[in-house]
Amino acid sequence: MGIRDGIMDALTAGLKKAAIASAQRHLFLCMGPDCCVPADAEILWEYVKQRVRESGAQAMRTKAQCFRICTGGPWVVVYPEGVWYGEMTKARFDRVLAEHVLGGVPVAEWAVATNALCGQKQA
Ligand code: FES
Repeated sequence: MGIRDGIMDALTAGLKKAAIASAQRHLFLCMGPDCCVPADAEILWEYVKQRVRESGAQAMRTKAQCFRICTGGPWVVVYPEGVWYGEMTKARFDRVLAEHVLGGVPVAEWAVATNALCGQKQA
Protein backbone atom coordinates (compact mmCIF):
# COMPACT_ATOMS: atom_id res chain seq x y z
CA MET A 1 0.00 0.00 0.00
CA GLY A 2 1.37 3.38 -1.03
CA ILE A 3 1.25 6.67 0.81
CA ARG A 4 -1.64 7.82 -1.37
CA ASP A 5 -3.61 4.66 -0.51
CA GLY A 6 -2.99 5.35 3.17
CA ILE A 7 -4.20 8.92 2.81
CA MET A 8 -7.30 7.76 0.96
CA ASP A 9 -8.01 5.17 3.65
CA ALA A 10 -7.69 7.82 6.33
CA LEU A 11 -9.89 10.18 4.33
CA THR A 12 -12.56 7.53 3.86
CA ALA A 13 -12.45 6.70 7.58
CA GLY A 14 -12.69 10.39 8.49
CA LEU A 15 -15.68 10.97 6.22
CA LYS A 16 -17.40 7.94 7.72
CA LYS A 17 -16.64 9.01 11.31
CA ALA A 18 -18.03 12.48 10.61
CA ALA A 19 -21.19 10.85 9.17
CA ILE A 20 -21.19 13.31 6.29
CA ALA A 21 -23.05 11.01 3.91
CA SER A 22 -25.96 10.44 6.29
CA ALA A 23 -26.21 13.84 8.01
CA GLN A 24 -29.53 15.63 7.76
CA ARG A 25 -28.54 18.62 9.87
CA HIS A 26 -25.39 20.37 11.02
CA LEU A 27 -25.17 22.17 14.35
CA PHE A 28 -22.52 24.72 15.21
CA LEU A 29 -21.97 25.88 18.79
CA CYS A 30 -19.98 28.98 19.65
CA MET A 31 -17.45 28.24 22.36
CA GLY A 32 -16.92 31.90 23.25
CA PRO A 33 -14.98 33.73 24.56
CA ASP A 34 -17.13 36.86 24.29
CA CYS A 35 -20.76 35.71 23.89
CA CYS A 36 -20.45 33.24 26.75
CA VAL A 37 -18.05 31.84 29.30
CA PRO A 38 -15.89 29.24 27.51
CA ALA A 39 -16.03 26.83 30.45
CA ASP A 40 -19.84 26.94 30.34
CA ALA A 41 -19.77 26.43 26.55
CA GLU A 42 -17.55 23.39 27.02
CA ILE A 43 -20.09 21.86 29.43
CA LEU A 44 -22.88 22.60 26.97
CA TRP A 45 -20.81 21.14 24.12
CA GLU A 46 -20.42 17.85 25.99
CA TYR A 47 -24.18 17.83 26.60
CA VAL A 48 -24.95 18.54 22.93
CA LYS A 49 -22.71 15.67 21.84
CA GLN A 50 -24.28 13.31 24.37
CA ARG A 51 -27.88 14.23 23.56
CA VAL A 52 -27.36 14.07 19.79
CA ARG A 53 -25.75 10.65 20.16
CA GLU A 54 -28.48 9.35 22.51
CA SER A 55 -31.29 10.64 20.30
CA GLY A 56 -29.98 8.98 17.17
CA ALA A 57 -30.30 12.27 15.29
CA GLN A 58 -28.51 12.30 11.95
CA ALA A 59 -26.77 15.52 12.83
CA MET A 60 -23.19 16.63 12.59
CA ARG A 61 -22.03 18.99 15.34
CA THR A 62 -19.08 21.31 15.24
CA LYS A 63 -17.47 23.71 17.68
CA ALA A 64 -17.17 27.27 16.42
CA GLN A 65 -14.82 29.92 17.72
CA CYS A 66 -16.89 33.07 17.43
CA PHE A 67 -19.64 33.98 14.96
CA ARG A 68 -18.82 37.69 15.48
CA ILE A 69 -22.08 38.28 17.37
CA CYS A 70 -20.19 38.25 20.67
CA THR A 71 -23.13 38.77 23.00
CA GLY A 72 -26.17 36.80 24.03
CA GLY A 73 -24.64 33.35 23.66
CA PRO A 74 -23.88 30.61 23.68
CA TRP A 75 -25.08 30.60 20.06
CA VAL A 76 -26.21 27.55 18.18
CA VAL A 77 -26.97 27.64 14.47
CA VAL A 78 -28.75 24.72 12.82
CA TYR A 79 -28.38 24.03 9.09
CA PRO A 80 -29.75 23.51 6.50
CA GLU A 81 -32.45 25.89 7.78
CA GLY A 82 -29.89 28.37 9.09
CA VAL A 83 -31.75 29.07 12.32
CA TRP A 84 -29.81 30.98 14.96
CA TYR A 85 -30.56 30.37 18.64
CA GLY A 86 -28.97 32.46 21.40
CA GLU A 87 -28.73 32.01 25.15
CA MET A 88 -28.52 28.26 24.69
CA THR A 89 -28.83 26.07 27.76
CA LYS A 90 -29.17 22.35 28.29
CA ALA A 91 -32.94 22.68 28.70
CA ARG A 92 -33.31 24.86 25.61
CA PHE A 93 -31.14 22.48 23.62
CA ASP A 94 -33.39 19.56 24.54
CA ARG A 95 -36.33 21.40 22.97
CA VAL A 96 -34.33 22.42 19.87
CA LEU A 97 -33.19 18.82 19.50
CA ALA A 98 -36.69 17.40 19.81
CA GLU A 99 -38.59 19.92 17.74
CA HIS A 100 -36.06 21.16 15.19
CA VAL A 101 -33.25 18.64 14.79
CA LEU A 102 -35.46 15.56 15.08
CA GLY A 103 -38.87 17.01 14.25
CA GLY A 104 -37.86 19.36 11.48
CA VAL A 105 -39.74 22.34 12.91
CA PRO A 106 -37.60 25.23 14.20
CA VAL A 107 -38.47 26.66 17.60
CA ALA A 108 -39.83 29.90 16.14
CA GLU A 109 -40.01 31.90 19.36
CA TRP A 110 -36.31 31.32 20.01
CA ALA A 111 -35.10 31.88 16.44
CA VAL A 112 -33.22 35.17 16.59
CA ALA A 113 -32.34 35.06 12.88
CA THR A 114 -32.84 32.71 9.96
CA ASN A 115 -30.80 32.46 6.79
CA ALA A 116 -30.49 29.16 4.96
CA LEU A 117 -27.73 30.54 2.72
CA CYS A 118 -29.41 29.19 -0.38
CA GLY A 119 -29.82 32.54 -2.10
CA GLN A 120 -33.54 32.75 -1.46
CA LYS A 121 -35.10 35.53 0.58
CA GLN A 122 -36.68 34.36 3.82
CA ALA A 123 -40.40 34.86 4.28
S1 FES B 1 -17.66 34.73 20.99
FE1 FES B 1 -19.54 33.75 20.43
S2 FES B 1 -20.18 34.97 18.77
FE2 FES B 1 -18.26 35.87 19.26
